[in-house]
Amino acid sequence: MNFLASLPPVLYLISSVMFTLGIKRLSKVKTARQGNTLAALAMLLAVIGTALELGWVDPTFILGGLVVGTAIGAWTALTVKMTAMPEMVALFNGSGGAASALVALASYAGLREKGLIGTGVKVFEGGTLPAGVQVFVLLGSIVVGAVTLSGSLVAWGKLQGRLAKGKPILLPARHALSVALLMSIIGVGVWFGVGTAEFGTSALWIVTGLSLLLGGLLVLPIGGADMPVVVSLLNSYSGIAAAAAGFLVGNPVLVVAGTMVGAAGLILTRIMSDAMNRSLANVLVGGFGQTDAAGGAADEGYEGVTQAGPEEAAMILEGAQSVIIVPGYGLAVAQAQHVCKELGELLIKRGVQVSYAIHPVAGRMPGHMNVLLAEADVPYDLLYDMDAIAGSFKQTDVCIVVGANDVVNPAAANDPSSPIFGMPILPAHEAQTVMVIKRSLSPGYAGIKNSLFEADNTLMLFADAKKMLTDLVAEVKEL
Ligand code: TAP
Repeated sequence: MNFLASLPPVLYLISSVMFTLGIKRLSKVKTARQGNTLAALAMLLAVIGTALELGWVDPTFILGGLVVGTAIGAWTALTVKMTAMPEMVALFNGSGGAASALVALASYAGLREKGLIGTGVKVFEGGTLPAGVQVFVLLGSIVVGAVTLSGSLVAWGKLQGRLAKGKPILLPARHALSVALLMSIIGVGVWFGVGTAEFGTSALWIVTGLSLLLGGLLVLPIGGADMPVVVSLLNSYSGIAAAAAGFLVGNPVLVVAGTMVGAAGLILTRIMSDAMNRSLANVLVGGFGQTDAAGGAADEGYEGVTQAGPEEAAMILEGAQSVIIVPGYGLAVAQAQHVCKELGELLIKRGVQVSYAIHPVAGRMPGHMNVLLAEADVPYDLLYDMDAIAGSFKQTDVCIVVGANDVVNPAAANDPSSPIFGMPILPAHEAQTVMVIKRSLSPGYAGIKNSLFEADNTLMLFADAKKMLTDLVAEVKEL
């Protein structure tokens, strides 16, 4: 056997193992960068393997694609702001879905060009998989790929606030419309499978168009703040579409990688929904966060709020032996992670026991706080997951809440009428003294009041997180 011809399967195998190890390493902040590099190299090997296997493809196309793709990917990754990461992931998911749908359309066009005239089943007769299965896989790849593309574009528009300022768009009879679209897609799919040759290509284009409409329609009613869950679900869809495309073109590494993305996206979606105490169905039906309170100011309705400045806060910290820092979305907005670490270091130098408590949905994307704190080189062993640290607040002298709101709202634990009742929280209110750094009494993502702000043991430090922490660091240095 020719050496070059025997290479692709070996490269596919190595690439699949590297993808698996890469995704495993992504599960810990410490090894995440390594995992990312490993997965990127795996992708390179997969591309080389595919190019060798296809043989007849003009190498300028492959090289051109690699150069353009690498340039776009590198530029986007280097310039994206941390808070805009979900938007970037949405666009990448959409590209994945589009690629799979295009692979499916191209593979059908290729078969027809080879003279295998006939619609659906007839084209695939004599293949390695039963013809009916091939048609199902072809349609699956196109439908899921196109739904992922349009759904991701709508998600991107929502996250950017360009589409209805991120608010849910509730079209009349939208559920009936979605069902009608789905039925039409199934109908045209069946027509493609058993119909006449002349209409084969047209049928696929109709399926593509209907699927694009369906994807957009499914995401329109979902509010911008729920988008990370949707983006994670669309990530899973893009994996499913890729796996289907992999079956279609007989590329095992595409099947492996697609299946892993599909499963990982689904698990992540589940974790996020659970951490918000929402069912996936509740997120997908949409409409959450459409009340004015969700985005507006809710300064009214608070009584007995105690305000303090950096000087007073530093004096309290002077007597503290243990401090828990709870970071939230505001830390990301203010880009205050570096000065937050500086404060932690100063306190540690003074003999204070400092820990960072990480809520699974703090911020706006999974692992948001871990990534921010890792960027500032906060030692990993100071970071504690919610379950590991929840029991420690009672014995803690000071809890500093930096730009977090919903994830420390006691209503989740003690107010059955609250929309977030049942969501697990970090019990910041149990600490001896709580300092909350935020700019105002405005609500967080859930749009609700937080009784922590008016508790007797809470001091509100109103300011931008970076500014307040900088002032606090200066005061602590003076102690
Ligand atoms: P939020 O409850 O959204 O509260 C963030 C707070 O940060 C706001 O109250 C805001 O108050 C403050 N803030 C904004 N900019 C600031 C700045 N420059 N300096 C200081 N403070 C600033 O955040 P959280 O506690 O992190 O909770 C996350 C929420 O997002 C949860 O409800 C969660 O369910 C939801 N969510 C999360 C995810 C993921 S995966 N993480 C996905 C979907 C939804 P001011 O305006 O008064 O400053």
